[in-house]
Amino acid sequence: MMDNVHVSQHPLIQHKLTLLRRTQTEPKKFRELVHELSQFLFYEATLDLRLETVDVETPLARLEGQHIATHIGLFPILRAGLGMVDPILDLIPTAHVWHLGLYRDHTTLQPVTYYNKLPPESDVDLCLILDPMLATGGSAVAAMDILKKWGANRIKFLGLIAAPEGVTTLHHAHPDVPIHLAAVDSHLNEQGYIVPGLGDAGDRQFGTG
Ligand code: PRP
Ligand code: URA
Repeated sequence: MMDNVHVSQHPLIQHKLTLLRRTQTEPKKFRELVHELSQFLFYEATLDLRLETVDVETPLARLEGQHIATHIGLFPILRAGLGMVDPILDLIPTAHVWHLGLYRDHTTLQPVTYYNKLPPESDVDLCLILDPMLATGGSAVAAMDILKKWGANRIKFLGLIAAPEGVTTLHHAHPDVPIHLAAVDSHLNEQGYIVPGLGDAGDRQFGTG
């Protein structure tokens, strides 16, 4: 695997990803699994967060404790990335959330931006782009282009399933950006779906298939 591309081998992630893929998994269960998988991925992707020392008092003594000094921004790509926001906010409630509206044109598979309302200046130290699916890579590359133009200096991509084509495209366009995934599948089909994948992640979360 390429430098900067991290595919989790954690048994809990592999187990839950298998449940997520199953056709019989209904939207409620699907959302729960996206929730749990997002927390595990976030945990693995944040091993390098910066810590600061803080003085605390326990009932018995004073000590120098630690707190996270990195300001995190979450950038879910609509729609499917939405399901990854709440589970991560549960773990890091101070994160800022900025939504990026991108969809793939069905015939060209090119990303189309329909919502992007970032503040005038970047106010976070680390931007996490959230999208369960990395297919051609077009949406993720477009999201990173937007964030870099905006002034983001550190970005990571968190996704559940990727096609090899998407990983290569994203890595070549933005080699500095770590990519964290639960799996890299076999290939893309002619309609640009990941095989074996899980189908349409937005439709499966929101019951719109
Ligand atoms: C899906 C997915 C990604 C994109 C991946 O969104 O959630 O954003 O496709 O494909 P790519 O790597 O080829 O760009 P979709 O366009 O279906 O939009 P939706 O979530 O609003 O349904
Ligand atoms: N988007 C999805 O939701 N699934 C795919 O397989 C490809 C793009």
